Amino acid sequence: MARPAVLITRRIPSSVVARLEERCAVEIYDGPDAIPASELSARVADKQALMCLLTDRVDRAVLDAGTGLRIVANIAVGFDNIDLAAARERGVIVTNTPEVLTEATADFTWGLILAVTRRIAEGERLLRRGEWGGWALDFMLGSDLRGKQLGVVGLGRIGRAVASRAGAFGMRVAFTTLDDEAAGGAPADKRWTRLSLDELLSSSDVVTLHVPLTPATRHLVDRRSLLRMRRRGYLVNTSRGPVVDEAALAWALREGLIAGAALDVYEQEPRVHPDLVGLENVVLAPHLGSATIETRTAMADLAARNVLAVLSGAAPLTPVVA
Ligand code: DGY
Repeated sequence: MARPAVLITRRIPSSVVARLEERCAVEIYDGPDAIPASELSARVADKQALMCLLTDRVDRAVLDAGTGLRIVANIAVGFDNIDLAAARERGVIVTNTPEVLTEATADFTWGLILAVTRRIAEGERLLRRGEWGGWALDFMLGSDLRGKQLGVVGLGRIGRAVASRAGAFGMRVAFTTLDDEAAGGAPADKRWTRLSLDELLSSSDVVTLHVPLTPATRHLVDRRSLLRMRRRGYLVNTSRGPVVDEAALAWALREGLIAGAALDVYEQEPRVHPDLVGLENVVLAPHLGSATIETRTAMADLAARNVLAVLSGAAPLTPVVA
């Protein structure tokens, strides 16, 4: 009997490919950039499984082309790149990779919080330009975290992991949740205060975003919400770029309406709004939240295990659409 065919849209760790090859015929797109849409549709036509990345748009056209597809396994926890309704209509299972990237992403979020409040990236840029004149009492002063409030928007797995680290920095936690947020499981820590979004924005020293991208969260942070934030407040986004209106954020940073921002995600990756690039009070990271060897391997491995489960007739491990 022919082995089921799997398309992987980018190179993944060889150990994971080997696991798949034991039972499947594996084809890997090996181009230098993300697979072009036409190529994706052409290659998926004779496959039973697609393992893809958040940079691959799996829309109706791709799902129409993949007439034999049984599963789309996204190697990401976010799945806004996949047309879930179209997958559901065609009986295609969609899976993501929750849990395995939670800790790495939470650690990275704290890296960004420290980078922006202590001006680490800004200082490094200055030093590399040869502009450091030596130690001075009032040179490049940032803000303490101790005694301040961390405002967590979205209390899913990553939001909770970020909040649970706050005590190490002497911060108290406030959080807000949105109705359509992905269910994360455990309840909030009793020490954390639940607030409305507006209350959280106006009372937090650091606001950190951990919501999925949905129609309700697109531009959740816009001019109106930025105006509610504290002038000494910071905004951190490691969720999805379009949750923040970048033009509005650039305006708020330029006008000094907030003290700073740190972003790992952008509205039109890999493009970054040109107004942000020129500003010193924003840290700009290239979508690295889960980028550790261990975590990315675990993500690819979980996606592969989902593929193997579904192709063998078992239930997917981490379904988004079952
Ligand atoms: C995800 O998984 O959705 C992140 O954005 C990348 O790790």
